[in-house]
Amino acid sequence: MASIAIIGGTGLTSLQGLEIKGREIMQSKYGEPSGPLTRGVLGGKDILFLPRHGYGHTIPPHKINYRANIAVLKDAGAEHIIAVNAVGGIAANMPPGSLVIQDQIIDYTWSRLATYFEEGLDQVVHIDFTQPYCESLRKKLITAASKSHLHVATKAIYAATQGPRLETAAEVDRLERDGCHIVGMTGMPEAALAREKGLCYASISIVANMAAGRGEGEITMEAIEHNLSTGVQNVLTLLETVIPTI
Ligand code: HPA
Repeated sequence: MASIAIIGGTGLTSLQGLEIKGREIMQSKYGEPSGPLTRGVLGGKDILFLPRHGYGHTIPPHKINYRANIAVLKDAGAEHIIAVNAVGGIAANMPPGSLVIQDQIIDYTWSRLATYFEEGLDQVVHIDFTQPYCESLRKKLITAASKSHLHVATKAIYAATQGPRLETAAEVDRLERDGCHIVGMTGMPEAALAREKGLCYASISIVANMAAGRGEGEITMEAIEHNLSTGVQNVLTLLETVIPTI
């Protein structure tokens, strides 16, 4: 059974290099996940793949059924999840095309179904989330990046915003004052749900654009897609290097 799962984000609705073995439609008591799970082999190991926006990239960040996605991955045997997220760069040293393996997160999202612990409880549950990412997996990713000669930022705070619109310049100023380095719309509640399920979860963020007010002019989907393509190639290299070490 595959114990490693990859959750793809914008720019990663399929995994180039993945030797596909099958697709499995999974049901969850939390509703429909973003699509069937793809089973395949990457870096010599069995893995599971799920694109969080759907295979056709049609599900916006606030409509993703994060609970169903994490639940079906757990049910399919996942123990480790590597999430890939597209983000805007707030810090000047995280420009478009660069990769970030962030270590912290601040949640600015609202009205998302963000916990498994709300009904039929014997007792209220509060998970520890001091370190939101699995440090052993983060270390493996950082080592694999260095082995592959890929530059990655390894200390960064991810701001999770509601979307689907991009931020205003003033909102990004506030995120910067809060200490955030990158901003994306899908980091939460995914990371917290993985922790609630006891999974070892880490994320690779690909900087797609400078965040609002940090670059020149408007942020367009065309520019985002263009910048993501370089980052995605580097992520694929990183995945092929890290997977054999997990
Ligand atoms: N903000 C939020 N999410 C994003 C951005 C951004 O600038 N770019 C890609 N995802």
